[in-house]
Parts: sequence; C-alpha cells; structure tokens
Amino acid sequence: MKIAIRFLTLITLAGLMFASCEGPMGPSGADGKDGKDGTDANETCKLCHNSTVVQAKAIEYEHSLHFTGEAFEEGTRNSCAPCHSHQGFLDVIKNNTPATIVVNPSDPAKYINNYVATASALPLPGAISCFTCHSSLHKNYESTEFLPLATTAAVPMTMWGGSKSINFTKTSSNLCAKCHQPRPITASSGALIDYSKLVSDPTATYNLSSVSYRTGIHYGAHGAMAAGVGGIEFGTGYTNSAHTNAASCSSCHMAPPSGLAGGHSFNSAGNFAGCNTTSCHTTMSATNTTLTTAQTYITTKLTELATKINALGAGHDILQKDTEDNQYHGYIDIYDASSNSTGYWKNPDFGTPAFPALTNAQFGAILNYQLVFRDASKGVHNYLYIKKLLENTIAAF
Ligand code: HEC
Ligand code: HEC
Ligand code: HEC
Ligand code: HEC
Ligand code: HEC
Repeated sequence: MKIAIRFLTLITLAGLMFASCEGPMGPSGADGKDGKDGTDANETCKLCHNSTVVQAKAIEYEHSLHFTGEAFEEGTRNSCAPCHSHQGFLDVIKNNTPATIVVNPSDPAKYINNYVATASALPLPGAISCFTCHSSLHKNYESTEFLPLATTAAVPMTMWGGSKSINFTKTSSNLCAKCHQPRPITASSGALIDYSKLVSDPTATYNLSSVSYRTGIHYGAHGAMAAGVGGIEFGTGYTNSAHTNAASCSSCHMAPPSGLAGGHSFNSAGNFAGCNTTSCHTTMSATNTTLTTAQTYITTKLTELATKINALGAGHDILQKDTEDNQYHGYIDIYDASSNSTGYWKNPDFGTPAFPALTNAQFGAILNYQLVFRDASKGVHNYLYIKKLLENTIAAF
C-alpha cells in the first residue's frame, strides 16, 4: 500500500514537471522522429523490488530497533540529528562535519561543538531507513545501488573532539560507528574536558565540569569498545581481541537470520551463525565456555566497579539503580526534576546532602563504567580491551 502510494507520487511528479513549463504557446513545429526504445524501467525496478531482495530485507528490518524505535524524534535538535535522524546523518556525511569543539568567535569564554546537523536537515526527522545506510539507492535506479554504503570513512570521535578516531579494518563497521560512538563531556562553557587529567592527576578533586544525573558518554559505546579506542585508559597493557580486525559489526549483527535475530534485524542475540564461519569459530554457542567464561568475568568486574563507585557515597549509592532491572546503567543518582525526581543526592524534597566531591580518577571510573555497561556485549565486542579497562580502572582509585 505504502509503495503503491509512492508510485503514484512519482507519476504525479513527472506530470507536474511537464505541466510547469510556462509561457505563451508558439506555433506547433513538425513532428520529430521517433526516439530509440528506452530500457524498460520496470525491469530494473524488479531486480530489487521482488520478494527475495527489497521485500525480504524489509521484513527483517521490521524487527530492527532502527525501524521500531522512536529515538529518531530527537532529530529535531541539531546536536542529536547526526545520529538520530535520516536527514541529520546524511547531512553530516555530505558536509564532512568535523567533530571539533572550538572557541566561539563571538564570545571567547564559550565553546561551540561543531558536530551538529544544519538547520535544513532538522524539520520532520525521518527514522533510519534503507536510504540512510544505502544512500545511493534510486540515484539511477540500477540494481547495484545498495553499494557503496553511505559512509565507510574513518570516524573522528565526537567524545574526543575529533582528536581520536575509530577506523576499522573492515570499513563497513565505520558506518555503524559513526552513530554508535560515545558523546563528549563538556564544561558549562561548552569546552571539552581534558580527559588526560583524569589519568595524570588522579587524586585531584574533579572540577572540569559539573556533575548531574545525565553526565556521561550517552549510549553509543559499542563502536569505541569494539575498536578499543576512547576509554579513560588508566595504567598500561591495552590490546585488542581478534574481533577488532577480523570481524565487522555486520559479521555478528547481520549474520544469516535465525529466530528473531540476524540479517537486517541487526540483532545478534542468540544467533551464532556469524561466529561459526570459516577461519573463525566452529562450535560457538550460548553454552560454549569460551563465551560464558568471558562474559561472566566481565560481568563480575563490572559489578565490582559499580560497588567500588557506590562505596564513595558512604552509605548511599552514587549510581542510580534502575527500578526495572535493578542494574546500574551509569546514571548518577542526583536529583533531576524531570528525569530523577526521587534521586538521592541534592534532593530538595528530601533535604539530602550535596553530591560528594569526586577525584579525577573516580570521575574517570564512572565514565568507564558507562562505556562498558552501555556497550552491552559483556566483553564480546573486544574482550582484551574491555577486560584491561575494567581491571585498570578498579586499581586506579
Ligand atoms: C537497487 C535496488 C532498487 C532499485 C533498482 C529500485 N528500487 Fe525502489 N526501493 C528500493 C528500496 C531498498 C526501497 C525501500 C523499501 C522499504 O523502505 O521498505 C525502495 C522503495 C521504493 C518506493 C517506495 C517509496 C520510497 O521512496 O520509499 C518506490 C515507489 C520505488 N522504490 C520505486 C522504484 C521504481 C519505480 C524503480 C525502477 C525505476 C525502483 N524503485 C528501482 C530499492 C530499489
Ligand atoms: C544513523 C545512525 C545509525 C547508524 C548508521 C547505525 N545505527 Fe544502530 N542504532 C542507532 C540508533 C539511534 C539506535 C536506537 C534507535 C532507537 O532506540 O530508536 C540504534 C539501535 C541499534 C541496535 C539495537 C540496540 C538495542 O538497544 O537493542 C543495534 C543492534 C544496532 N543499532 C546495530 C547497528 C549496526 C550493526 C549498524 C551498522 C550496520 C548500525 N547500527 C548503524 C543509530 C545508528
Ligand atoms: C554520536 C551519536 C549520537 C548523538 C549525537 C546523540 N545520540 Fe542518542 N543515541 C545514540 C545511539 C547509537 C543510541 C542507541 C544506543 C542503543 O540502543 O544501544 C542512542 C539512544 C538514544 C536514546 C534512547 C535511549 C534509551 O533509553 O535506550 C535517546 C532518548 C537519545 N539517544 C537521545 C539523544 C538526544 C536527546 C541527543 C541530543 C541531545 C542525542 N541522543 C544525541 C547516538 C547518539
Ligand atoms: C543501519 C544500516 C543499514 C540499513 C538501515 C539497511 N541496510 Fe542493507 N546493508 C547494510 C550493510 C552494512 C550491508 C552489508 C554491505 C556489505 O556487504 O558490505 C547491507 C547489505 C544489504 C544488501 C545486500 C547488498 C549487496 O550487494 O551485497 C541488500 C539487498 C540490502 N542491504 C537491502 C536493504 C534494505 C531493503 C533495507 C531497508 C529495508 C536496508 N538494506 C537497510 C546496512 C544497512
Ligand atoms: C564478535 C561479534 C560482534 C561484533 C563484531 C559486534 N557485535 Fe555488537 N554485540 C554482540 C553481542 C554478542 C552483543 C550482546 C547482546 C546480544 O546478544 O545481542 C552485542 C551487543 C551490541 C549492541 C547492544 C544490543 C542490545 O541489545 O542492547 C549494539 C548496539 C551493538 N552490539 C552494536 C555493534 C556495533 C556498532 C558493532 C561494530 C562497531 C558491533 N556491535 C560489533 C556481538 C558483536
């Protein structure tokens, strides 16, 4: 039905193009010769518009949070649109928008984050669709237009004001990491905080930004953890697991479908078809001990880190415990009128105390907790990096 309506729109548009030629009519000229037959548009359309290509992928896609989620509505804000709306994403690609944070020329005390979409890309944000990742579709209506992907270029990290980049060997992963990357921590001036101080001056009191309920790296930790770039790296010994270079996001998240996962559902849960392929694994499964041992270890260390962070509250948790799953998602349990009205710290209704002073290292530990928790792979994305990040963080404060 949706497609039928769009077909009519195309035909109507073509009609309008002819109708809009204006000006007084001259006398008719002689009839021209018949042109050569064109290729039958319908034939190229059918190479994609059939049950095994567009329709098959579209059905898979209906299971994807890219399709069902509502976060794209955040795309009306210029700072959110680069990752949340179809238009915003293509806008930052087209303009090669830098991830830098610079002094505001009209107010030197303030800073501007350049990683925003332009105003024309903001009204009526669209959800992520086929045309977002496959941005060449319908340019010439050729069957090869699923490729190239919208971008496969190295990704300057917005969390780091562009000073670090994610660049996967399997470059299709850069498409995903462009959105699935963490966001910056900024001071009230808008300036990027100097993360290096969290490591180099660990015992100083943290004063690089204010700390509130939502202070943190946002949700897209996956690209950074998979690449092994951008954690607050206390200590030494960081390496990456084989997945970083040998697997792409799509190897695992777009593997041959099984159950409700795989293909264009982008869901990897419980689907091991991508793991058990030539020169990778042979017997990977939910009960394979290589997997269960690694995930159990990361879960244990992450819990240990949460416990250590929470102990800084001397009797009251620092991190907010989610009421649905009883886990710490990385939010800080500070009162926030709209988002955390029952928060413990600084709650005017309960007359609770100010949020305790943190050291630089303790603040860095909270960021690393967020990175690993929100990565959500429990080590699968990059076991060696995530393991070292947790171990070194726990040892750092
Ligand atoms: C390279 C593959 C490919 C070719 C060739 C192709 N399409 Fe599409 N088309 C797509 C995809 C993918 C979608 C999006 C499907 C969805 O959202 O479920 C789409 C969507 C559409 C839609 C729905 C409106 C929209 O823009 O979302 C129309 C109408 C359409 N195509 C018409 C055509 C016509 C007419 C031709 C031939 C002249 C054609 N397509 C050729 C891949 C293709
Ligand atoms: C244009 C930005 C963008 C691109 C490109 C992108 N994603 Fe996403 N992805 C998102 C957003 C935003 C969400 C959450 C959507 C929502 O909640 O409405 C999401 C959700 C997901 C989820 C579900 C997460 C969950 O919490 O269940 C997976 C898995 C995922 N993406 C994987 C991928 C992979 C793999 C790629 C590359 C092939 C990719 N994404 C490319 C922005 C993007
Ligand atoms: C650098 C890319 C990026 C930017 C910029 C960004 N987001 Fe997101 N956001 C994501 C990704 C990726 C996800 C999905 C993570 C997942 O589901 O695992 C997400 C998820 C969300 C969600 C769903 C969270 C949930 O409850 O699961 C909301 C709401 C959201 N973002 C709001 C915003 C707002 C508001 C802004 C602007 C102020 C913004 N985002 C800017 C990448 C980004
Ligand atoms: C979040 C990004 C994303 C979205 C959205 C997306 N795709 Fe894809 N698609 C990919 C990636 C990545 C590949 C793998 C490309 C490769 O092999 O490098 C792919 C591959 C394909 C292929 C195989 C192309 C080939 O030549 O190998 C088809 C067909 C396809 N997608 C159709 C669709 C359709 C139809 C939709 C919408 C219903 C869609 N895709 C939405 C990322 C996306
Ligand atoms: C080696 C396989 C593998 C690779 C490579 C991989 N992932 Fe994952 N990913 C997983 C597994 C396993 C999980 C845990 C949740 C699950 O079972 O789906 C996960 C979780 C996620 C989630 C959270 C899903 C949720 O339900 O909360 C997102 C989003 C995600 N990955 C995105 C990516 C992106 C983007 C890349 C590439 C930069 C990537 N992944 C690379 C296997 C992989």
